[in-house]
Amino acid sequence: MRTIVITGGAGFIGSHVVRRFVNRYPHIRIINLDALTYAGNLENLADVENASNYMFEKVDITDAAAVNAVFAKHCPDGVIHLAAESHVDRSIADPMAFIRTNIEGTVNLLNATRIAWKDNFEGKRFYHISTDEVYGSLGEEGLFTEETSYDPRSPYSASKASSDHLVRAYFHTYGLPVVISNCSNNYGPNHFPEKLIPLAINNIVNNRPIPIYGKGENVRDWLYVEDHASAIDVIFHKGGAGETYNIGGNNEWTNIDLIHLLCKVMDEKLGREPGTSAQLITYVQDRAGHDLRYAIDSSKLKRELGWQPSLTFEEGLPKTVDWYLANERWLNNVTSGSYQHYYTKQYQER
Ligand code: NAD
Ligand code: DAU
Repeated sequence: MRTIVITGGAGFIGSHVVRRFVNRYPHIRIINLDALTYAGNLENLADVENASNYMFEKVDITDAAAVNAVFAKHCPDGVIHLAAESHVDRSIADPMAFIRTNIEGTVNLLNATRIAWKDNFEGKRFYHISTDEVYGSLGEEGLFTEETSYDPRSPYSASKASSDHLVRAYFHTYGLPVVISNCSNNYGPNHFPEKLIPLAINNIVNNRPIPIYGKGENVRDWLYVEDHASAIDVIFHKGGAGETYNIGGNNEWTNIDLIHLLCKVMDEKLGREPGTSAQLITYVQDRAGHDLRYAIDSSKLKRELGWQPSLTFEEGLPKTVDWYLANERWLNNVTSGSYQHYYTKQYQER
């Protein structure tokens, strides 16, 4: 039986990738390797936790010995690496956690695969999941392609850029069969509510202010999380060794337009008068070094591997809202305790 280690499988995107692989590939053993930080939640995987081809290992990727031990135990044929510190605002407050997990943790995984595979890479694959933020900030025109020069501008994106460079270095230096993808902003079920869309949904439900950084003019390209998982599936199986693929939704929104659309959907779903939720919009102090615009050209992925998004934003956003309204317990669980502490610290002085 083949074995794939998926790191960060208890997080937002990772849980959708684990579910997809467990269900679609019953002949492959899926090992979810996750440290269960504030962002990791095994409740995300309750529906597959008893599947015979699924197993969870609580491992911190900054612990090289623990990573080596788990690789020796399971002898994986493939790695899909999603574990990361992923929130830009947290990276501004505490960069070191990002250096440790995103850079050192990635190198620990690269080393563990070399040891486990004894530098014999036949039939093996190391897939590194990265972000469009490594390319920096666009002006009003243009798109990020796979050839765009790296220009990361936050501690988060600099740590991800660093890990991308290290993954490529292991391809060129040791011949490790790597593949990398850089994706735009994801949204959908299980998104931790310190990121814009789930935070706004939670605040609208609770009649709390919706904090918009600066003037709300920053632009992001949004992709439904299951479409990211389907792209990861196709790239893992068909992507070329040493190749990079950009993944995006071709779906640009300014933050303020997105929030107005979300407010409209929420008013409909909650049976509120049109315009009620929008009254909660509150402009707050901008994010330090706030990148103006991200937009992805994913034509290489479409042309070479035949992938394209399955949902429009007009379909995906109401579907996402429905999930949050139906999963109040999940939302209450993740917003209790340390979330309250984070929220107060992050927003009280803005
Ligand atoms: P997330 O923060 O929701 O989940 C991260 C997961 O990694 C959690 O389960 C956490 O417990 C785990 N983790 C963190 N530190 C760890 C450590 N030291 N050892 C082991 N596990 C650890 O993140 P996400 O939004 O699901 O993002 C997943 C990946 O996709 C990240 O690499 C991120 O850079 C990338 N990405 C995210 C987006 C997005 O919009 N969310 C877009 C493009 C790329
Ligand atoms: O582009 C891909 C990246 O998308 C991923 O690599 C990151 O892991 C992921 O977190 C996301 O980063 P962003 O910084 O774009 O996501 P966030 O949801 O934090 O913010 C989206 C936009 O909304 C951004 O312009 C900042 C703004 N914002 C965010 C929050 C939390 C607000 O205006 N108010 C807020 O309270």
